[in-house]
Amino acid sequence: MRPRIGLAGIGGYLPPTVLTNADLEQVVDTSDEWIRRRTGIETRRILNKDETILDMAVQAATRALDDAGVQADQLDDIRVGVNTWMRFPSLATQLQDALGAPRASASDVSAGCAGYVYAVEEAFNKIFIEKVSYGRDTIALVVGVDGLSHITDWTDRQTCVLLGDGAGAVVLKQVECGEILAVHTHADGRHGNLLWSDEILGNQSNGSPKDFTHAQQGTRTYLHMDGRKVFVAAVETMVSDIRTVIAKHNEGSGDNVTIDDIDYFYPHQANLRILEAVAKRLRVPPAKVYTQGIVKYGNTSAASIPLGYCDDHERFRAPRERLEIDVAFGAGFASGAILRRVGG
Ligand code: ACO
Repeated sequence: MRPRIGLAGIGGYLPPTVLTNADLEQVVDTSDEWIRRRTGIETRRILNKDETILDMAVQAATRALDDAGVQADQLDDIRVGVNTWMRFPSLATQLQDALGAPRASASDVSAGCAGYVYAVEEAFNKIFIEKVSYGRDTIALVVGVDGLSHITDWTDRQTCVLLGDGAGAVVLKQVECGEILAVHTHADGRHGNLLWSDEILGNQSNGSPKDFTHAQQGTRTYLHMDGRKVFVAAVETMVSDIRTVIAKHNEGSGDNVTIDDIDYFYPHQANLRILEAVAKRLRVPPAKVYTQGIVKYGNTSAASIPLGYCDDHERFRAPRERLEIDVAFGAGFASGAILRRVGG
């Protein structure tokens, strides 16, 4: 029988330092009104000098493990979706050590803002194969984390207003109820020139709330983006990935799930207008789409979907049986979607 693999625990972490639109008005030629109207963002969190990307990952992972009632030394696998840990050893192996998870294999997944979806797919496949091929029950930790303030050009008003730091984590294992029904991932590498970071030069220092414009002292690694083209591609691709993951599930199961059967969507939080456009294109009521993350936390890249589960935890934990979709799009372009049955 096909193993039921689902999310057994969730955890999130946001640095305490809040950066407001008013703070950004002091740094670049922008306004609170422009940022809210064009992006929906009101605040974002950023790392201070004493915090690292690893610290955020540890916090989120520890909370997810507690939530699942799983000890770190029970973990068999750790996958970390991350774009801002551009060095080795991997963040996943550092996390394995910090958590005390000696049994776990560990690797980073670089897939832009879709890193969480790709990491879930890899962990899901591993758990599935271990069960079906070897009869082994395995447990995986998946983390989406990014410290975009480390690679933000605080002189570029087109990007610096969008980005925030944070981490989200889930424990994936065999479950009694609720399961991942299908995962779809996709890439189109022809568009690498529309959203990219510079070659890595120098160290990546930590951002700081009060002197965040100097966060890159010693590094010349910045994020760059052609916002308009990325916007259009994000809408088209997320719509297409949602349709594809449903079709994939139907093909494999004989079910006849439609868009109308999906109770809720957790899209990657890049811009409120992107989320609204995706909902409109799919004729999905806006109330079915999680959008609070972009308003409060900005674009946290690989972290935004699992952070959304935590932010929205009362709804996320409701026992009622329902279908949900996670969907993400980012640099590469790389994108993907997950169809989950929840509760029941
Ligand atoms: N404040 C004030 N004005 C601004 C700002 C700002 N922060 N940024 C741009 N403008 C100006 C522009 O200079 C332009 O002025 P002009 O008409 O005089 O030339 C005007 O506002 C309109 O600029 P557009 O780029 O057309 O604005 P748009 O409505 O497209 O919004 C934005 C820009 C928010 C970047 C949007 O294109 C977007 O969200 N793109 C997608 C972002 C995204 O999905 N990124 C993916 C992930 S990022 C990652 O992977 C980490």
